[in-house]
Amino acid sequence: MQELSVRHLLGIKDITAEDIQLIFETADNFKDVLNRPIKKVPSLRDITIANVFFENSTRTRLSFELAEKRLSADVINFSSSGSSVKKGETLLDTVNNILAMKVDMIVMRHSSPGAPHFLSRHIDANIVNAGDGTHEHPTQALLDSFSIREKLGEVAGKKVVIIGDILHSRVALSNIFALQKLGAEVMVCGPVTLLPKYIKELGVKVEFDVRKALAWCDVANVLRIQLERQQMKYFPSLREYTLYYGIDKKMLDSLDKEIVLMHPGPINRGVELSSDAADSHHSIILNQVENGVAIRMAVLYLLASKQ
Ligand code: CP
Repeated sequence: MQELSVRHLLGIKDITAEDIQLIFETADNFKDVLNRPIKKVPSLRDITIANVFFENSTRTRLSFELAEKRLSADVINFSSSGSSVKKGETLLDTVNNILAMKVDMIVMRHSSPGAPHFLSRHIDANIVNAGDGTHEHPTQALLDSFSIREKLGEVAGKKVVIIGDILHSRVALSNIFALQKLGAEVMVCGPVTLLPKYIKELGVKVEFDVRKALAWCDVANVLRIQLERQQMKYFPSLREYTLYYGIDKKMLDSLDKEIVLMHPGPINRGVELSSDAADSHHSIILNQVENGVAIRMAVLYLLASKQ
């Protein structure tokens, strides 16, 4: 049996193109399972997984929980709000107490970049990073590339633009690593204040004009403006952002080709995307969500086999 090269999924930076292909092929099989009347397999029957969330989530948290249940794992959910973290308990103490209850794997979302990497140096259980601050969100990037592969046949050679708040986005960084490992050309587009200074060192194209970016690409992955992570004003107003970088259906329809529209969610409707664009035939946003369950099943299954 083929194996992943890692025992934790901390970031796309740490895994190989072969790892990504293995995850995709495994996810193909699990997607078939999810389309059957009985959507459950006994693969992780002896495994207990804790979903440890120190930050808000809808899609990632529910998708992991469903993936774990479809694999017949035992699941416990921890949310920092309402927990003893509020009494001053440390991250390591919290996780060690969860592991003392005979838990095998930790899926963690945390607002601090590097929090899952820190944990991986102190605990034996497999760790899956479900988003660490502005750093990485590996399963989001995997499901995004998997969705491009499903829609366009392959990722290699495709032109993908990531539009919006690149500076605060863990989705952007993980997508750049995943798309490049799979052979896509990557462009980022946004106001100069929302692009990191080091961005060109990652080997991506940079474009400030969203219309030129849309004319160039096969796929546009539009990001949310992360107001909760912004310590200062990066643009004059949301209204001005929408005027220069907002995408609506008319812009997509006026292109002389079909492009695929993606968004990791949650969408700020009327800011980065109009409702008519988000809900149009160009959009595969809900396919991304659907594919997230199969991708997370694949990741958990492959990591469990490394125990
Ligand atoms: N895409 C994503 O990570 O969404 P949530 O924050 O709802 O999990």
